[in-house]
Amino acid sequence: MEFTSTKIGKIHLNHCLMNASGVKCKTEIDLSNIYKTKVRTGVVVSKSCTLEFRRGNEGTTYYHSKESEMSINSSGLPNLGYEFYMEMAKKLEQNARDRKFRYLYEVKKPFIMSVSGMSQADNIHILESVFDKHKSHSIDGVELNLSCPNIIGKPQIGYDFEAFDEILRKTFELDVPKSINMGLKLPPYFDISHYSQAFDIINKYPIDTLTCINSIGNGLVIDPINECSVISPKKGLGGIGGSPIKSVALANVFQFSKNTHCDVIGCGGIVSAMDVFEHILCGAKAVQLGTIVMLEGLDVFKKIERELLSIMRNKGYKKISDFCGKLKYVEPEFNKY
Ligand code: DHB
Repeated sequence: MEFTSTKIGKIHLNHCLMNASGVKCKTEIDLSNIYKTKVRTGVVVSKSCTLEFRRGNEGTTYYHSKESEMSINSSGLPNLGYEFYMEMAKKLEQNARDRKFRYLYEVKKPFIMSVSGMSQADNIHILESVFDKHKSHSIDGVELNLSCPNIIGKPQIGYDFEAFDEILRKTFELDVPKSINMGLKLPPYFDISHYSQAFDIINKYPIDTLTCINSIGNGLVIDPINECSVISPKKGLGGIGGSPIKSVALANVFQFSKNTHCDVIGCGGIVSAMDVFEHILCGAKAVQLGTIVMLEGLDVFKKIERELLSIMRNKGYKKISDFCGKLKYVEPEFNKY
């Protein structure tokens, strides 16, 4: 019997797949749908939230292409405000306990609240509230998003190493409850010197998990027939997701799992079970699916889990830890010429 159960930081997951923040996880209906037993995910992740409700950017904010399995987005953090997501965590857990809904919901799916305040002060305010009230709500983990590329006039914190260090220093000055999984969502890094700076900062703090990677920020997708960008905000610039970003995601998963003390959640370019397998081989203990869920809906989790189990069976692996982080390197051939 093969299993896809796993553990990320402090959270046990019945399935190694989960939704990437931002995709179908903003409203009560979205979140209840993900909670359902038939959706084979190990955890529910919320849309990144801010202090207050936000409408988000204007115009066309999302585009995807089925053929190339890629997407570009610039939603601009539309969300219902952090208090809504704290309430939702509690409500989903209560619903799941209700006998009437036993057939529908898992007894308990852990809930991760993604946080992306509009300023450092907002982030600290939200985190303080989550930590303060942790006994009265049902939030199992926080994914502090240091990598939203779509707020007009705001840089990605993960690329500003001083701000990156400062937000973590302030976070861990708070009384972080031992039972809460503290995670970060990172932007993709490309340069080795940037990786080293990120490792040095992360390794100073008791962070449990890292989600690698957010979309590749500020890409441009165009429609050559109409000679036009495909999304409206920032003159067409937005976060790129889907297949084209997989190699960047794998490199980040590999680097952060080898060079930090944190468990890594892989995200980026996963559209098939083989992509999941590759992420885990590079060191991911669980993975998030974004673009493919927008393209195919929540049923895709079941399909990909079934195919992952088949890959594991064919390779003789019974559990995630049998191949997690076990990537080998191709040896340079001796005396090739
Ligand atoms: C949005 C996009 C992101 O990549 C992210 O991490 C958070 C929010 C958005 O545009 O809504």
